[in-house]
Amino acid sequence: MHDMTTQVLSELLSGEARSGQDIAKRLGISRAAVWKHVTTLRTLGYEISSRTGAGYTLTLCPDHPHAVLVHQYYSPVTLGKTIIYLAECGSTNSELRLRAEAGAPAGLVIATDEQHAGRGRRGRTWTAARGTALLFSVLLRPQMPPGELAGLTLVAGVAVAEALKSLGVTATLKWPNDVHIAGKKVCGILAELSGELDYTSYVILGIGVNVWAHPQGGDYISTSLAAEGLRLSRAKVLAAILTSLEVNIGLFTAGQQAICLEKWRQQSTTLGRRVSVRTATATYTGLARDITPEGALVVALDDGLEKVFTTGDVTLRGAGA
Ligand code: BTN
Repeated sequence: MHDMTTQVLSELLSGEARSGQDIAKRLGISRAAVWKHVTTLRTLGYEISSRTGAGYTLTLCPDHPHAVLVHQYYSPVTLGKTIIYLAECGSTNSELRLRAEAGAPAGLVIATDEQHAGRGRRGRTWTAARGTALLFSVLLRPQMPPGELAGLTLVAGVAVAEALKSLGVTATLKWPNDVHIAGKKVCGILAELSGELDYTSYVILGIGVNVWAHPQGGDYISTSLAAEGLRLSRAKVLAAILTSLEVNIGLFTAGQQAICLEKWRQQSTTLGRRVSVRTATATYTGLARDITPEGALVVALDDGLEKVFTTGDVTLRGAGA
């Protein structure tokens, strides 16, 4: 969206009637230009009534994760100060990677309505029908070596679960970072890192939340916020998650990893359960005992041995799986 169109939208967000003359004066443009931007907004799905004497009134705001709409709900510190909204793209992680390589600052967020090549963990695809999910990526530049960042993806899950709680729904975590409601997956997180053995250039946290609908079929049972009774705009959900990420990533990078991982334990549905862990080479079954200080999963295997997993797909066994 053009910068000036965005500013005209900001002027209308209160929902109060605003005269074209007043908006034109505040923004230093002509009334004809205001009308042109209002027309553009209408083509984007914003319903704006105009009455002689009263002016323009925003009567319906579409559910886009656009910066102006997101910033109504929170004041960004670092994360989401700049939010680039794309109507569609291949993958927000890939879009953000391009900007990261070009030197974009930490905190940049890219959000979209539709991905044509959305990516999931372990090389899988991630699909969501247009406009039904909150799809976004956040750029981080932590001053920590890659070896100390494994827990960061767990912390991202903690942040999403806390955000959902602040919005009124209880979410739980399945190792490493799937977010569930009532045992069904509502959010997936894909963390990608670029760096050297002892130096992190950047981390991209890609987050997909099923807001209005969820994919049917597939390897696991999904749900959406709407199906669980939470009917909220994607902008509001994004604001809550960015607020929570700011706090939790702040803790993690300030040396409070133990506190973050303890929060993960408290919200986990994995620990204390029988699990199967599928790695690239084999599947192991046993009791999920704990996570290490680095966030790896410790499983007491059925053959009596203990194994520590740094990666893998977990299936919960038994009741409530
Ligand atoms: C998973 O497999 O559970 C992780 C899914 C991550 C999906 C999100 S949607 C926004 C971002 N862009 C992508 O291509 N993937 C992530």
